Amino acid sequence: MRKQIAAANWKMNLTYQQGEKLLDEILEEKIELAPHQQAIFAVPFPYLIMANSEVAEENNYFIAAQNCSDKKSGAYTGEVSAEMLQSIGIKYCIIGHSERREYYFETTKTLAEKVNVCFENNITPIFCCGEQLRIREENNQAIYVQQQLEESLFHLSTEQIQTIIIAYEPIWAIGTGRTATTEQAQEMHLHLRSVLATKYGQEIADEIPILYGGSVKGNNAAELFNCTDVDGGLVGGASLVAKDFVQIIKSLK
Ligand code: PGA
Repeated sequence: MRKQIAAANWKMNLTYQQGEKLLDEILEEKIELAPHQQAIFAVPFPYLIMANSEVAEENNYFIAAQNCSDKKSGAYTGEVSAEMLQSIGIKYCIIGHSERREYYFETTKTLAEKVNVCFENNITPIFCCGEQLRIREENNQAIYVQQQLEESLFHLSTEQIQTIIIAYEPIWAIGTGRTATTEQAQEMHLHLRSVLATKYGQEIADEIPILYGGSVKGNNAAELFNCTDVDGGLVGGASLVAKDFVQIIKSLK
């Protein structure tokens, strides 16, 4: 059975104390996750260790990084390497979030490097793709996201690709309160799966979790996650509110 994942992306929000409280409130709910279900929390770098020890005891709950360097090590002031993340037990890292692509000029080539350093360090990339509003209005979203996958992922081996997590996040839906319709989400997720199938075969593509991101809330998660090819969500704003994120985790199929 394909993994179903509720992934929180805290972005650059919450103090350490606020983050700790939020995580406590969510864990206190003791939501029982089935073996194929996971809850992942992508927290700011300085919180990775603290959160890891808290979450370590809970089954199927994981802490993730929001980014890592494309370089292995060396004179890159301010950067954090995948090897460093691995050395404190981190197993997941968001790669290629649209905010990184847009504000920090990350290119598909840089992202291919980031994906590589993750795999070299046994870290699963949560690889984000998604189109701008202009591209959606021109109806070019299918080819656009296909190219994002091709340019950053298609050099990967079958063993590597079958452990990846993909997140489709239409940029026009991120933080805007405007969610993709279930039809739009399902159509794109099916497309992404067929793109993966063309390169790696249907059997492999059928096992890759594809999360939806963009204004997922407590009250729309179940509807989105119920789409055949939507395997959970990558959640920004609503992941900062315990009640909302609890409802989102409970909406996993
Ligand atoms: P949002 O963000 O849920 O606030 O729209 C999603 C994301 O950027 O991952």
